[in-house]
Amino acid sequence: MRANLRESWSIGGVEIPTRLVLAPMAGVSVQAFRRQGRRFGAGLVCSEMVSCAGIEHRNERTLGYLRVAADEHPLAIQLFGSDPATMGEAARLVTDAGADLIDVNFGCPVRKVTKTGAGATLLDDPDRACRIVDAIASSTPLPVTVKMRRGLRNGSRTCLDVGPRLVEAGAAALTLHPRSAEQMYTGVADHALTAELVDLVDVPVIASGDVTSRVRAEAVLEGTGAAAVMVGRGAQGNPWALREIVDGDDTEPALEEVIAELLLFVRETARELGERRASGFLKKFYGWYLGRGRFSRPFKQEILVLNDLAEIERRLLAAAPGAAALLEELEADVPRAEEVTLALPISAFGGG
Ligand SMILES: Cc1cc2nc3c(=O)[nH]c(=O)nc-3n(C[C@H](O)[C@H](O)[C@H](O)COP(=O)(O)O)c2cc1C
Repeated sequence: MRANLRESWSIGGVEIPTRLVLAPMAGVSVQAFRRQGRRFGAGLVCSEMVSCAGIEHRNERTLGYLRVAADEHPLAIQLFGSDPATMGEAARLVTDAGADLIDVNFGCPVRKVTKTGAGATLLDDPDRACRIVDAIASSTPLPVTVKMRRGLRNGSRTCLDVGPRLVEAGAAALTLHPRSAEQMYTGVADHALTAELVDLVDVPVIASGDVTSRVRAEAVLEGTGAAAVMVGRGAQGNPWALREIVDGDDTEPALEEVIAELLLFVRETARELGERRASGFLKKFYGWYLGRGRFSRPFKQEILVLNDLAEIERRLLAAAPGAAALLEELEADVPRAEEVTLALPISAFGGG
């Protein structure tokens, strides 16, 4: 049967309007990215992984990751850590912050995370992984989901042993990125493994890895029986990929449209992170938006060396003058982040 990307589905009672999920990506999935993802057709968006230790210590930057906007729902906030009690405590705060789902990271392959016993290493410690899921599920009424890799080493099938146990421990859905931690992002995502996992569990499975087009999304959904596909790198600087996947609308955006979306993103991110932090954070996004054959390499370089956001805005508008009117329309349609962002349950400055 042909997969319908526009069909709604649900995780533990949370309705998700499309079968497309925007991937959690550290250093990428800020509020502006998630809100844009929802506008372009993602049925569910996810925060980047948030440190439970950071939440425990009321780290100001960590708490900033918990800011939820009213127009992001449904939204998952993803936690990482290794201590079940700390993760259960963090889940309470995430619940109060306004998330719809709590996702747990058992997939991060980065040494900084794995050396603390968090991320993908938990796939080799299934007892602890289950205790974490159980501790979170006992601390929140929200559905708890898990995102994992296939295992630590190449060729590993650990996810097929651990997945059903995590469901028993309380996971209401599983996302599988079927690469090993060792593989990082090399090779291909082996979705034959996703199909095996779907057969083993009675909760929805989300297929993550190498989905960049509607054709690929349909093939993965049909070939695996997964409830949804997740898109990460394909959406970087390219929300139009989400529209193509969900609606089959493959018209390339006009350059004015690209600049208008980029500038909205710059403005929203500057509000969220502050101009100074945003200025460094945004550099990779200039590469992503202006690349893909849309603008010349020298123009991209010219923007990349600038730090002043007003100057960047001036040059981008000069390169595509029609973008100013489009940006105005976008800003009129999209509520301002400060109008829709929920207050944090505790002060971001160490209170509570
Ligand atoms: C820059 C970057 C950051 C990522 N950060 C996270 C993260 O915080 N949590 C997580 O579960 N996965 C993270 N991932 C993995 C993605 O969610 C996704 O599973 C992976 O990129 C494969 O999907 P793709 O081929 O669509 O990019 C990250 C990936 C990238 C490229």
